[in-house]
Formats: sequence, structure tokens, C-alpha cells
Amino acid sequence: MVVTELDVPIVGAPMAGGPSTPELAAAVSDAGGLGFLAGGMLDAPELHEQIAEVWSRTERPFGVNLFVPATANVYAAQPRPLDGPDRARAVGEYRERLGPDAARLGAELGEARPEDTDDWDRKIDVVIEERVPVVSFTFGLPSAAVVHEIQRSGTEVLVTVTDVDEARAAATHEVDGLCVQGPEAGGHRGTLDEAKDPSTDDLIGLVEAVRAAVDLPIIAAGGVSQPQRAAQVRLAGADAIQVGTLLLLTPEAGTHLVHRRALGDPAFTETAVTRVFSGRLARSLTNDFVRAHDGHAPAAYPEVNHVAGPLRRAAAAAEDPQWFALWAGTGWRDARPVPTAVVVRDLAASL
Ligand SMILES: Cc1cc2nc3c(=O)[nH]c(=O)nc-3n(C[C@H](O)[C@H](O)[C@H](O)COP(=O)(O)O)c2cc1C
Repeated sequence: MVVTELDVPIVGAPMAGGPSTPELAAAVSDAGGLGFLAGGMLDAPELHEQIAEVWSRTERPFGVNLFVPATANVYAAQPRPLDGPDRARAVGEYRERLGPDAARLGAELGEARPEDTDDWDRKIDVVIEERVPVVSFTFGLPSAAVVHEIQRSGTEVLVTVTDVDEARAAATHEVDGLCVQGPEAGGHRGTLDEAKDPSTDDLIGLVEAVRAAVDLPIIAAGGVSQPQRAAQVRLAGADAIQVGTLLLLTPEAGTHLVHRRALGDPAFTETAVTRVFSGRLARSLTNDFVRAHDGHAPAAYPEVNHVAGPLRRAAAAAEDPQWFALWAGTGWRDARPVPTAVVVRDLAASL
């Protein structure tokens, strides 16, 4: 199995929205780890093109990550706790709340597009046709039928989980492994249900608990930024370590300049887990967007993401870090502008 047979037990996290590039995925794989493409928020032709580019850059295995839309998620409660007209109303209220900030930045807020499935069906076809070595899912648990269909093409399937209950649910679908994500992680929490409050147990405790409950390979993610921590997480039972934030400043990453600068700016002193940017909980550097709106965004993904997207993009265009989503895990201060191969080598030094 790919994940348990890596030369270096390091996985480069998929990072949608820009940071993940074919170059980054290939660089992690060429360094002996497992690189990932972020398929979330791409359409099927874009994903197809990126996969072809990774194949042209490396002969080593790599993975593709996909977001599971509500319509394909068999884990979350149906109907959702916030659904129908109540959901639309809550999103509308948040839209009004963002209005003055959007106007100030010259942005027109987006449409909520609750029907958006992130091109799910066509992207499943792409990963099957392309025989991608590994596919990981986040934001939900696809049906066992979808898992098996992908496995039939020779692809290994991973699901991101954030607690033992989610790990057990994924195991019943006969997945090949788990991405176990702790609360320290940068970017979105991969809870299988958008509305639930995720566990705050630290990554080591979480890995130990999942290891005791489920007999599957574990890729552990969240705030791992130093070799000693990586070794501790491995000792707790992880087969490999997944890192995202640590790769954000590498030359191979497509991280936006505003994001890069903020990660190195001492004016940012903490991170927060917030729904303000997308409607799903995610960890970012604390900026004015978080301070102004935290606690007010409804648990409604992708609607809030679509509504707030133009505001974030206007901030990026104006090089204003205060209204951009500055995804960062708790170890952000260890991210360095060095080649990916160096990041992978140094982190793996004591593994
Ligand atoms: C900028 C950024 C974007 C991310 N995008 C995704 C994504 O598209 N899919 C996914 O499964 N996880 C995503 N994550 C979460 C990572 O998979 C992983 O859990 C996290 O990076 C681990 O924590 P760390 O950032 O502290 O290393 C993202 C993380 C970051 C920092």
C-alpha cells in the first residue's frame, strides 16, 4: 500500500485555493513522500490538466483530494440541522452583515449557490479514468459504492476524520486508510458533518484513540512543524505525517503573495478557528475579518464561501491581509521559504 511503503513517511497536504500545484505535489513525491493535488474548487477539466502535469513531472505515486458535497455525504444528518428556508435566511443575514466591508473593498458579494456540488460526479470520473494512485476525501463520507468503484481502478482511498466516531464510520466503508486531522491543523477542519463542533483533543491523543479503535493505516495531520513532534506523532501510532502549513512558503507552492507575507509578519500573533470565511470551521491567522465577524457566520458551506469569496479576492488584489483568508496551522512560525525537498528532509530527520 502506497502510504505505508513511502521512502519518507511524509504526506504533502492538499491545499485548495492556490497553494497546491502540480509542482508542489511532484516535489513532495520526488523527495520520497506522497504529494497531493487539491481537487476541491477545481472543475473536472482543470483537475484533469493538473493530474497530467504531475504525471509529466514525476513517476512516483501521488494523491488527489476531493471535497465531498452534502448530496454525496452519507455521514451527516439529513435533513441538516440548518436547512431549507432557515438556512437561506441565515446566509442572507450574514451577507447583509458583510455588505459594508465588501463595499469598502469595492467588492460585490457572491451568490450563495447552495446547489453547487463542486463538479463531484465528473471529478470522480476523472480520478477513475486517470488511475490516480491515491484519492483522499474531506468534508464528508462518500457511499461505500463510490469508495469501491474507485478502488476497482486500482486506486487507494483515504477519508479525512477528526474523531473516533468518524474513523469507525469510514472503516465500515472499507477505505484503505484514514487522514486523522487534529485541531491544530491549518485550513478547514475535515469534520464529516459541517455543523458539529469538532473534537479539541490534541493530535497525539486523537491518533492514539483512533489507533485503538480502528485497524487502518493512519496519516496524521495538524500543527506538525518540527521533527521532534513528527516523531512523537509517529510513536502515538501514525504511519505517516501530513503537513500543509509547513509547505506554504516553499517556491513550489502557489500560495498568494499576501498570504506568504502575512505568515512571516510578526504583526500576526495568533491563529483562530472560525467560520467567517466559508461557513465551515477553519484555522487561519487572526485578522480584522475574523475579529469583526467571528461567531456570526452560519454553518453553511459552500454558501458562505461563495458569498464571501469576492470580498477575499478584492482584499488579495489590494494586497490587504486583513480581509483575506490566511490559513495557518498552529506551527505557522516554523514555515520557511526553502525548497520542498528541504522541508521534507528536515521534518523526516528523526523518523
Ligand atoms: C492553505 C491550506 C489549504 C488546505 N486545503 C485543504 C484541502 O483542500 N483539502 C484537505 O483535505 N485539507 C486541506 N487542508 C488541511 C490539510 O489537509 C491538513 O489537515 C493541515 O494542513 C494539517 O495541518 P498543518 O497545516 O498545521 O500542517 C488545508 C490546509 C491549509 C493550510
